[in-house]
Amino acid sequence: MSRSTTIGVIGGGQLARMMYAPAIALDVNLRLLAEGPDVGAARVFKDVTVGDYTDEAIVREFAAGCDVITFDHEHVPTRILRGLVDEGLLVRPGPEALEHAQDKLLMRERLTRTLDAPAPAWRRCPDEAALRAFGDEVGWPIIAKASRGGYDGHGVWKLDGPQDAAKPFAESLDASAGETVQIIGEEFVDFARELSVIVVRSPSGQAVAYPVSETVQRDGVCRETITPAPGLPDEQAAAITKLGLDIADDLRVVGVLAVELMQRTDGSVVVNELAMRPHNTGHWTIDGARTSQFENHLRAVLDLPLGDPRLRDDWCVMVNVLGGTVTDLTSELLHCFARDPRLRVEFYGKGVRPGRKVGHVVTYGENLDDVLGRARHAARYLMGEIREGQS
Ligand SMILES: Nc1ncnc2c1ncn2[C@@H]1O[C@H](COP(=O)(O)OP(=O)(O)OP(=O)(O)O)[C@@H](O)[C@H]1O
Ligand SMILES: [Mg+2]
Repeated sequence: MSRSTTIGVIGGGQLARMMYAPAIALDVNLRLLAEGPDVGAARVFKDVTVGDYTDEAIVREFAAGCDVITFDHEHVPTRILRGLVDEGLLVRPGPEALEHAQDKLLMRERLTRTLDAPAPAWRRCPDEAALRAFGDEVGWPIIAKASRGGYDGHGVWKLDGPQDAAKPFAESLDASAGETVQIIGEEFVDFARELSVIVVRSPSGQAVAYPVSETVQRDGVCRETITPAPGLPDEQAAAITKLGLDIADDLRVVGVLAVELMQRTDGSVVVNELAMRPHNTGHWTIDGARTSQFENHLRAVLDLPLGDPRLRDDWCVMVNVLGGTVTDLTSELLHCFARDPRLRVEFYGKGVRPGRKVGHVVTYGENLDDVLGRARHAARYLMGEIREGQS
């Protein structure tokens, strides 16, 4: 590795953008394949190609001068990535691992087969009749998921009864962009809360795990994380951590692996899905951990030893900021920073649109209620939900 080392990042969202600071620290070059000239990462990278990541010729040309390729999202077709590997390029994580984050059916099959990982009852349902039969068997409501192409709740349907069984087939066909999309039926888990564990693995097999977080998703979007997950017994946290490390090892993941879990009311957990890139539930690590997920992702991609994942403080809370109506946030920032010197705000460089994730806030400290209160106040203030003088 040297200052002439170039990491190619495919996808120009906030995850690529937040890789930039650790790349400066490591003195490596980042090259971006962006969806458009104005996406969040394109506003900070100096080496930007605008192009379609599903176009093989464009991805090849982009990758040619890079020492290693990594990702901001999981949507690059596996076929294209295999082609890069065949040409001798380093792709990290590699297509064999990444497929398990791209394809929820493959993920369920693999985790059940090799690791016997806890899962909700699930079944591949080739047609409406199969989905109805599955629902009748496990009990309605059920969840239906498109095997591929989902994000932020798109491609996930809650079906209340047999009358809803046609919906996922109709809607997933519209969004499939030519890929083979299968429908999976899943037991509806009436979870007490969601959890996430983030591990990072390097090609040599070294791995680190961040403390388990509690995560709150609303309307398919991550809204809040609390680390460590309150009230999670040490033994269970250790078991979840081991599960994350085992999955990373089994799939030979390189870089960040996020394992999303649901915790039932009886305390037991099931795996929801996997992501292989820095993850929204790990944004707290920039400020709250000794080494951020973004730095450890780059270190793993470069096959450098990984950094300390431990918390800096007792508690760390992240709250996502969704776009509201305000576009100039100067006075809001003034209020928030003045009120809480421990607050950090990260904007994603996106245009403000109602409901869209435009940034996040993180704060930390010794008392969870206090930390939560400060983080939520700041996020609500930046979203225009509260005004001066309100608490
Ligand atoms: N079997 C289930 N039972 C109950 N709720 C579920 C189930 N599966 C998913 N959910 C809920 O739907 C959310 C989105 O599901 P999932 O993570 O599979 O979709 P996604 O759109 O790929 O998400 P992401 O934005 O994380 O990529 C979960 O975070 C969870 O809140
Ligand atoms: Mg998810």
